Amino acid sequence: MGDFIVSARKYRPQTFDTVVGQKSITNTLKNAIKNEHLAQAFLFCGTRGVGKTTTARILAKTINCFNRTEAIEACDSCDSCESFNSGASLNIYELDGASNNGVEDIRNLIDQVRIAPQLGDFKVYIIDEVHMLTPSAFNAFLKTLEEPPKHAIFILATTEKHRIIPTILSRCQIFDFSRIKVKDIADHLVDIAKKENVKAEPEALHMIAMKADGALRDALSVFDQIVTFSENNITYQDVINNLHILDYDYFFKFTEFADKEDIPSCLLLFNEIVENGFDSHNFINGLSSHYRNLLVCKNPKSADLLEVPDGIKDKYLKQANEIDVNIIMRALNALSKADVSYKSAKNQRLLVEVCLMELCSLKQEQEKKKP
Ligand SMILES: Nc1ncnc2c1ncn2[C@@H]1O[C@H](COP(=O)(O)OP(=O)(O)OP(=O)(O)O)[C@@H](O)[C@H]1O
Ligand SMILES: [Mg+2]
Ligand SMILES: [Zn+2]
Repeated sequence: MGDFIVSARKYRPQTFDTVVGQKSITNTLKNAIKNEHLAQAFLFCGTRGVGKTTTARILAKTINCFNRTEAIEACDSCDSCESFNSGASLNIYELDGASNNGVEDIRNLIDQVRIAPQLGDFKVYIIDEVHMLTPSAFNAFLKTLEEPPKHAIFILATTEKHRIIPTILSRCQIFDFSRIKVKDIADHLVDIAKKENVKAEPEALHMIAMKADGALRDALSVFDQIVTFSENNITYQDVINNLHILDYDYFFKFTEFADKEDIPSCLLLFNEIVENGFDSHNFINGLSSHYRNLLVCKNPKSADLLEVPDGIKDKYLKQANEIDVNIIMRALNALSKADVSYKSAKNQRLLVEVCLMELCSLKQEQEKKKP
């Protein structure tokens, strides 16, 4: 137990090139370092766990490295790199804006900023969750941010860009970190599973990636949890059981029943889902995504928008072929209505059941409308 390190920490990228899914940002930073054109104040925005702190640390290490590589990466072996790697460098200062958000904290920081670095060229100040600073702390900070000493670089990070005041925004170079694509997360997990000698079905890792909703850290935490559960052999079934996800198969079945206008089978299947403890609002949204996936599969061009494992992609293409595009559109419409009314409905189960019956009747309605 003693030496277990969570994957999110163990696999924090150490170079620009190993940061997943943020190429335009890491390339811009590398070019700025190469051309000695680095800004002194940055704002890194984006949702949780997409690489903001990681990139800030890599930047700090790289600009202080004595032997930067041709590819503008830190050498990882000079004195400065070693002090960074052991967490002992005095050239990086991380302040958590959520817990140190008062004027006094910022004054302490400003006092520090005046002191030039002992080793290396730059001191990098990372202020995480910067939107949590109080207005007076912000004000105390403005002057320093506008005219920092030559050796100081500020990296402000936030998950809530809209809460940053314009006077700060206009003094920073802004980088918007993107959510990471399902495929990129899944590939990253495959890599890590290999390194950890964990056997894993590709569909299982893909499912974890989907569930992470763009945040790589979340994906890694879930991965750890399921590794423990499955004793180093992750199956698709483990993942859906653990994450309480409805198997794709359910949605394929519903769509098939609806196509056959088989109301009883639909209702029985829904009953099974409820009895297994699944939330019926999530069910409605899952079924909507399913029809959305069928819709994008109607055209080979948009089929690329499908973010599912390859084996399941074939099933989508097949089912999409069997169902009329008008029926898909109407199904989406009915589901969207159910989604909107769900919260305010007194009898939510009935609402879903009526919606399912509607899905089973779409063909009939369409027939009726024909002249
Ligand atoms: N783009 C990425 N490439 C590779 N690993 C990543 C990436 N983003 C996050 N991770 C993984 O998640 C962990 C946390 O990432 P990081 O601290 O950079 O997130 P953050 O964007 O600062 O999130 P927060 O807003 O919660 O502070 C890293 O240690 C790493 O393992
Ligand atoms: Mg962070
Ligand atoms: Zn170095």
